[in-house]
Formats: sequence, structure tokens, C-alpha cells
Amino acid sequence: MTIKLSLRRGDLQSMDTPLLVLPLGSDWAVEGPLAKLDSALGGALGRLSGRREFRGSRDETLHLTGLAKGPARLLLVGIGKPADHNGALKRAAAIAARQGHKLGVGSLAWYAADDRAAAVEYATIGLIAGAWEYTDLKTPPPDEERRPPLTEAVIIADDEKAARAGLGAGEAIGAGHSVARRIAMMPGNLCTPDFLEATGREIASRYKMDFTSLGRDGLEREKMGSFLSVAQGTPQDPKLVSLEYRKGKRGDKPIVLVGKGLCFDSGGISIKPAQGMELMKFDMCGAAGVLGAMEAIARLELRANVIGLIGATTNMPSGTAVKPGDVVRSQLGKYIEVINTDAEGRLVLVDLLSYARRWDPAVVIDAATLTGAIVIALGHTATGVFGPDEELVAEVIAAGKRAGEPGWPLPVWDEYKELIKSDVADIKNSGGRAAGSITAALFLKEFTDSYPWVHLDIAGTAYSETDLVSLPKGPTGVPVTTFVEFVRGRAG
Ligand code: BES
Ligand code: MN
Ligand code: ZN
Repeated sequence: MTIKLSLRRGDLQSMDTPLLVLPLGSDWAVEGPLAKLDSALGGALGRLSGRREFRGSRDETLHLTGLAKGPARLLLVGIGKPADHNGALKRAAAIAARQGHKLGVGSLAWYAADDRAAAVEYATIGLIAGAWEYTDLKTPPPDEERRPPLTEAVIIADDEKAARAGLGAGEAIGAGHSVARRIAMMPGNLCTPDFLEATGREIASRYKMDFTSLGRDGLEREKMGSFLSVAQGTPQDPKLVSLEYRKGKRGDKPIVLVGKGLCFDSGGISIKPAQGMELMKFDMCGAAGVLGAMEAIARLELRANVIGLIGATTNMPSGTAVKPGDVVRSQLGKYIEVINTDAEGRLVLVDLLSYARRWDPAVVIDAATLTGAIVIALGHTATGVFGPDEELVAEVIAAGKRAGEPGWPLPVWDEYKELIKSDVADIKNSGGRAAGSITAALFLKEFTDSYPWVHLDIAGTAYSETDLVSLPKGPTGVPVTTFVEFVRGRAG
């Protein structure tokens, strides 16, 4: 369901809306436009604030119905302390849209007390994210059981110029977000490497980007023995797909965004336990993030050169599958001993990372649902951020902060390299349980010597196994907005 967004100016008490949403921080007070609304409501807000019944803390909500005057309903949503303003607004707006959706009100009005462009932008992203649903595979319920979906949101803002800019940008990023979440949510039998290729092709043609794609034959010509070893267990054609967006200065080196696109990861011969294996359809969230970011960047018309690069395949056990102990040759010429066929993401990524050299990148950022170990280290709150260049790592973390997608650094010191030394080959693809996310990053690092590089391990943040306050279980849209903010931060 796409939600229609618009701007309006005017007094809160005279808004004709079934649901007026007030995002309030922990320092909220009944003043300004709220004071006028309060007197129309007979002092209801003043009493709430006086009794500290609503404190405005993060994720707190209070729903007032049956109001005699003004809007039919009021929803107060807490945004907490002003530390992570964008993230808090995005979250609160998503909570509001979800509530609106559950209530079946059809439409809501969001009070943009902060009507600067960035604040309206992030509220917009949140409203779109909260209204998002994937219903393609559900038979619609009979009419009498159907609640009207949330199809409309009005943003109440005073500064029309700033709000309009924020709304436009928020819609662009929201659209990229929705692209990423949709393809991530699709089951593995529908979201195949062919499908990811077709989606990339469609985005590229809509925005006149150059598009290339290689299948098994092409990967063989490129001598990508590492990527191919993962794909040898499935009859599906693997795909290496690139989209080139060039709206930056001619001759400016591009930013290359790389995504892991495992349409399903069974583990291969080192097969995973059955419990929860269905979640491994989400193992293409890195690729989804790259495609979503390309959609958003093109809509924003950012003045930058950006390449989106994804590697898509499916990791399956079969008579032809790669086996533990096999040694494969990567495009760069390094020999890799496959200790564990379930450490397949890095096998795909290293050939993408060496392929990226052809663009002489200013920077390469890869995103991958790479390790279960990152969930042990950082839970589902922060993305793991790795790279030898501390300044660049800080730049990516800062972009994530502006995006409301927190990231946290982990080391890629040579001291850990011992763990991935192979007896027979140059390197092995698994270093065991200790420092699992770090050894995975170090493995990638071996293939990135010729350009600045950062790796995002999004295994804990790209999707949720449980319903969250702001989003339903499933894909979160991470790392679309981090990518966008990074590119925006560098764009001219
Ligand atoms: N796709 C998984 C990582 C993963 C695990 C993502 C849990 C999301 C949730 C990856 O391909 C994998 O299987 N990694 C192994 C590496 C190990 C064999 C060295 C892991 O994390 O167990
Ligand atoms: Mn795996
Ligand atoms: Zn995987």
C-alpha cells in the first residue's frame, strides 16, 4: 500500500482529521500551537502534562478518543531526549502510522512541531515505513472484515518551503526503503537471482543508469572461482549485476555500494539446522539495500557518481555442491580453502570486491548479512562497521547516525589473521567461533587493497524475527538510509 502524503498549514484544533498525531519530547509543555489545541479540548493536554501521565519518552504512546471538539482522536507519541533527532522522529512516525493502520482510520495528520527540512524528511520516511505492508501473497479478506488501510497522511507544518523539501526527500528515501523491504520479504522461490537481476534492470532503465549483468558463463569468463563455488550447488543461474548512476562531476571517482544477495542460504553441505532456516530468505538484504539505495539516490538526483553492485545466488547442498575441504581460486588469484560451506557470503563478496576495482572507486562500502556472530556482539540494535581506515569508518557511522540506523566499529587488526590461515591454501573461509564477525571482515579485507573500503555486517539489523514497536517483524530497510546519507554527505 502506498500512502499519499501532503502538507497543510493551520491550527491544530481546526484540523479535520480522524487522527491527529503529536510527537512530543521528554521536555514537552503545553505552549504555542499546543496551548490553542488544549483550550479547545478543555485543558486535557494540560492535565496530562500536570499529572505526568505522558512523559514523552521514546516509544511511549497515549491515545485519546471521544473528544468533543477538534480532531476525532489524538495520539501522543514520545520522541524522548533530543540526542538522535532524525531517528526518534522516524521511529515515532512509524509507530503513529502503524497505529493508524491498526485503528483503520484511513488517514492521519502529523504535527511537525519541528518543521525544518531534515525533521520533516525523517517523519516522512517513518510514516511510509509504518504504513508499509507486504500483502501480495495473502488473499484479501471479505469486505465486511476489511479495515480501511492507512492511505493518507497530512503533515502540518508552518514553514512551507522547508517542509516541502523535506517531504520530497523523505518520499524518495521512503520509496527506496519500500523497494528494499519488498524484495527482502519475498520468499526465495519468487525472489531468485533472476528476479534480483530483473529488479536491478528495471530500476536502471527507469533512471537511465547503465546496467550490466553476468550469469554463470560470464562469471566463468571473469574467473570468479570463489563466487562460482557457492553457485555450483544450484541449477539457478547466479547473477552479478551492476547499476551505474552518474550525476556527479565527470571524472570524479565513484562510490561503489556492494550487496550480498543470497536468495536463500541453506548452509550448503555444512547445512544449517531446520529450526529458523526459513529466515535465510533474508540473506539477500545487502543486495536489497543496494537496490533500494540506488532507487532513492536516483529519486533525490544526488550530484554523485554511484555504482550499485550485487552478487546473487542460492546456497544449496547437492551432488554438485562445493564441499568442506575444497580449494577454490578467486578472481584475484588467491586460493581459498572452503572449511565451511555456510561461510558462503564472503566467497561471493570477495569476487565482487575484486570486480569493483574496474571503476577505480573513491570508496567501496559493502553490506552483508554476513555472520551470526554479529548478533552476539551487537544484538539487533547496531550494525557492525569494519574497515582499516578509521576516519572512513567514522564517516559511515556518522551517516548511519543521521539515518537513524546506528552502527558501531569493530577492529580488523592483523592479530586476528592467524585464525584464517589455511594448511593448504592462501586463506580459509572460516576462523571458527571466536571473533567470528572480525575474521569474516578480515577475510574480505584481503581482497580490498586498492581502494578505501568499509564493510557493514547487517545480519542483526536488516530484519527482525519479532514484531517491534515501530515495525512489524521482517525487513527493516537497513542499510538503505545509511547508504543514502553517506552519498549525500559526499555529493556536491
Ligand atoms: N547468512 C549467514 C549469517 C547469518 C546468520 C545471517 C544469522 C543472519 C542471521 C552466513 O552465511 C553464515 O552462515 N555465517 C556463518 C559463518 C560461519 C560458518 C563461519 C555463521 O555466522 O554461523
Ligand atoms: Mn551461510
Ligand atoms: Zn549467508
